[in-house]
Amino acid sequence: MAKNTLTVTDNRTGKQYEIPIEEGDVIRASHIKEIKVSPSDFGLMSYDPAFSNTASCRSKITFIDGDQGILRYRGYPIEELADKSNYLETAYLIVKGELPDVKHFRAWEQNIKKHTMVHENIKKFMEGFRYDAHPMGVLVGTVGAMSTFYPDAKNIFDLESRRLQTRRLIGKMPTIAAAAYRLSRGLPYVYPDNELSYAGNFLAMLFKMTELRYKPNPILERALDVLFILHADHEQNCSANAMRSVGSSQVDPYSATAAAVAALYGPLHGGANEQVIRMLMEIGSVKNVADMIKKVKGGERLLMGFGHRVYKNYDPRAKIVKKIAYEVFEVTGKNPLIDIALELERIALEDDYFVKRKLYPNVDFYSGIIYQAMGFPMTMFPVLFAIPRTSGWMAQWAEMVRDPEQKIARPRQIYVGEPTRPYSPIEARLEPTSREDAVSDNI
Ligand code: ACO
Repeated sequence: MAKNTLTVTDNRTGKQYEIPIEEGDVIRASHIKEIKVSPSDFGLMSYDPAFSNTASCRSKITFIDGDQGILRYRGYPIEELADKSNYLETAYLIVKGELPDVKHFRAWEQNIKKHTMVHENIKKFMEGFRYDAHPMGVLVGTVGAMSTFYPDAKNIFDLESRRLQTRRLIGKMPTIAAAAYRLSRGLPYVYPDNELSYAGNFLAMLFKMTELRYKPNPILERALDVLFILHADHEQNCSANAMRSVGSSQVDPYSATAAAVAALYGPLHGGANEQVIRMLMEIGSVKNVADMIKKVKGGERLLMGFGHRVYKNYDPRAKIVKKIAYEVFEVTGKNPLIDIALELERIALEDDYFVKRKLYPNVDFYSGIIYQAMGFPMTMFPVLFAIPRTSGWMAQWAEMVRDPEQKIARPRQIYVGEPTRPYSPIEARLEPTSREDAVSDNI
């Protein structure tokens, strides 16, 4: 009968090892370590510089099948959630594991709204940033600073404390994000309006001017809410990994979230939607698309908003975003960049370069076009990603904190530097010209 094991022969020693295969197709790296030439040997290790084939945790939160283009939160298909749920309900699902009943949803909504205000000193703190500070930089700094306002957050093994910090973070994130935007515009802050929905209140804090009560457009409010659902979690991506990795040192969740926001800031992650718009503006017209494709194929450029570490098929979120774009345009008027994006997609999906590499539009390809049509400046795009992702980060963090198999994250390395060598006095060192060759380009 077939056994769920892997038999490995070490040709250096002729020894055979039987390694258990767990959960269908997983081997533990610790079992490879048992393969040694001699007892004093460290043992074999695997080398996986970008974790492209290494699972770092067991998780019950999000399921992705990248080949099939499937995404589910806690078992629920993203398409169904985007169609029928709302962001706060989805956040509950992600954080707690089940959809709430009416009573629990009301309590959850109230608990989040109770935490939408920020300490007045946080506002003062934010005023210290330079007038043209990127709102994502402001968010990184301010979320990190929140750990000093809530020292109780250090009790990470206390369930009630974890719950409280989760509500605080989900509640305050839009307030901080909106304040960063108002600050960048020289506009006065707008206090939260808890009569509005989560997305509606965010729009009010951003765009309210002199009117007594801001009334969000229901189509734009729903579009933003659906975009929030689509961005709520995405299993072990760069920022979730940052959240877990930093959190594994048992630091408070505000500090870990600041690290996650920083990870999201990068142009290869949440910063990509901003880069997509810059790229589309640079292309400028449908007739220039072929030129850009040529540059991409020549290795001069990346096609921003295309490709994904996990999806080797159309990102299911991108399909939904593309549909929402047209609903938004009904209100805002068409963003002309959509024509350039559609042409880029059309050519890319037919081109061998992209087909062979399984490069499809990801969630960022169309989201920026919607945000721009809704009046958000480009610098706010990654911030719009960070707000809903907070529920995912907190769920990932809490799962890590409670997982008995987790320890402080500490990858190994393959040392390729100099062997041991004696210190020489400065006068005796190489001539400057030969030293320049020896000094690496590291920094
Ligand atoms: N444009 C052109 N070529 C690409 C692109 C792209 N956007 N993405 C990947 N490729 C090419 C690579 O050059 C490589 O080609 P090669 O085999 O000839 O060397 C091949 O496709 C495989 O790509 P990798 O870089 O190995 O893929 P990886 O999984 O490391 O990268 C990533 C994934 C970072 C998303 C990448 O596709 C990329 O940089 N895309 C553009 C940025 C982007 O849109 N990021 C948002 C991701 S979604 C998110 O974070 C929410």
